[in-house]
Amino acid sequence: MNTAIRCIVVLLACATIYVNFSISAILNCRCVKTSTAVNASLIHRVEELEPRPYCNRKEVIVVLKDGSSRCLDPKGRFAKAVLLITHM
Ligand SMILES: *[C@@H]1O[C@H](CO)[C@@H](O)[C@H](O)[C@H]1NC(C)=O
Repeated sequence: MNTAIRCIVVLLACATIYVNFSISAILNCRCVKTSTAVNASLIHRVEELEPRPYCNRKEVIVVLKDGSSRCLDPKGRFAKAVLLITHM
């Protein structure tokens, strides 16, 4: 095979692997959408998940007293306040 073609094939293969990895890094996150705030008096506990190999972003999950859970935007003011309280 021509060297130039071989180079392109290798690049394409790498790009494909990279795209697959990026997509799975998003799909394997727990949160699909995030809320900016939830009713604080309904919060039962807070889970803080750091970026990990299969999910490339930080997630903040609150479990409510009714057993349901919500995701908070980790950059939002509400999530920061909640984390500050849980770390005290
Ligand atoms: C939050 O939940 C409590 C308990 O159910 C309720 O009394 C209160 O009105 C709620 N606050 C808001 C802002 O929805």
